[in-house]
Amino acid sequence: MTFEGKFSDSLVVDQLDKLSVSFLVNDLEVRRGGCAGNISFGLGVLGLNPVLVGAVGEDFADYRSWLERHGVNCDHIHVSPTKHTARFVCTNDETMAQIASFYPGAMSESREIELKPIVDAEGDPAYVLIGPDDPEGMLRHTEECRQRGYKFVADPSQQLAFGDGDLIRQLIDGADILITNEYESHVIEKKTGWTSDDVQKRVRLQVTTLGADGVRIEGTDQELIEVPACKDVTPVEPTGVGDAFRAGFLAALGWELSLERAAQVGCVLAAYVVETVGPQEYTFTPAEFLDRLRGSYGDEAADEVGAHIK
Ligand SMILES: Nc1ncnc2c1ncn2[C@@H]1O[C@H](COP(=O)(O)OP(=O)(O)OP(=O)(O)O)[C@@H](O)[C@H]1O
Ligand SMILES: [Mg+2]
Repeated sequence: MTFEGKFSDSLVVDQLDKLSVSFLVNDLEVRRGGCAGNISFGLGVLGLNPVLVGAVGEDFADYRSWLERHGVNCDHIHVSPTKHTARFVCTNDETMAQIASFYPGAMSESREIELKPIVDAEGDPAYVLIGPDDPEGMLRHTEECRQRGYKFVADPSQQLAFGDGDLIRQLIDGADILITNEYESHVIEKKTGWTSDDVQKRVRLQVTTLGADGVRIEGTDQELIEVPACKDVTPVEPTGVGDAFRAGFLAALGWELSLERAAQVGCVLAAYVVETVGPQEYTFTPAEFLDRLRGSYGDEAADEVGAHIK
């Protein structure tokens, strides 16, 4: 929501203990989001069939049909009988001051989900990506991946602000791929006490997104790969860019393309998101996507991806 005024004009500092304010807002936008939803949506749009695992409420029906229409398998989502789907609600004023709330709701029930029955039904996963979720759930799913030998991608993002070093170490250790942005990579080092070498010893690959500067891929047994961001991007609103990068990157790994190519596909998908308001509002045809890839990364990139994109 947008409030066309200043919150600060309605707040009386010495009366904050009796605070009761209401803002007349002139604009309400409701958007689909959430890391798992965004990443699955991107994979589905590129023609893959991701399995979305998470916990929602009875209010999920519309979002479910939207995701299913875009190729996402929602058959294994846990529906809470009592709580609503997680939701972030915020109001900005004309100075871009923000009052926001996050309701985790049904999300806390993700700790009840076991992966094995899902794998039994759907087949071996190429990757299990563990994104920011109920911390107990994240731990449980990471532990199950380690025990059962499922390759996993550690993507703790927002939960790094909340988690302590002990939690973060457990979420990362043994990951096939760790993906964060640059700021988050420093939070990991600070909270775990690990150096960047220590981090790389515990995962196969460390992928770090660098905003408009692109992405860096490193690893103990991996030569440094640096991929610049997509060209000719007009940034409009960044929510969901990181998730789109992950979708493109993992889609290309699913197509068994190289790491460099995968990062390029991620950067192009992220470009679409940064150019639109909302994380799942972008559209393109395969030809448009390939043109964009060609423009930034050359003919070979477009040809290789063209053999797969649907
Ligand atoms: N201004 C930009 N121009 C071009 N590409 C961008 C821009 N910002 C982001 N990207 C692309 O998106 C990818 C992810 O961006 P970034 O590192 O900002 O992720 P993030 O901080 O996790 O974002 P968020 O958490 O807000 O979704 C980058 O690697 C890049 O490819
Ligand atoms: Mg992010």
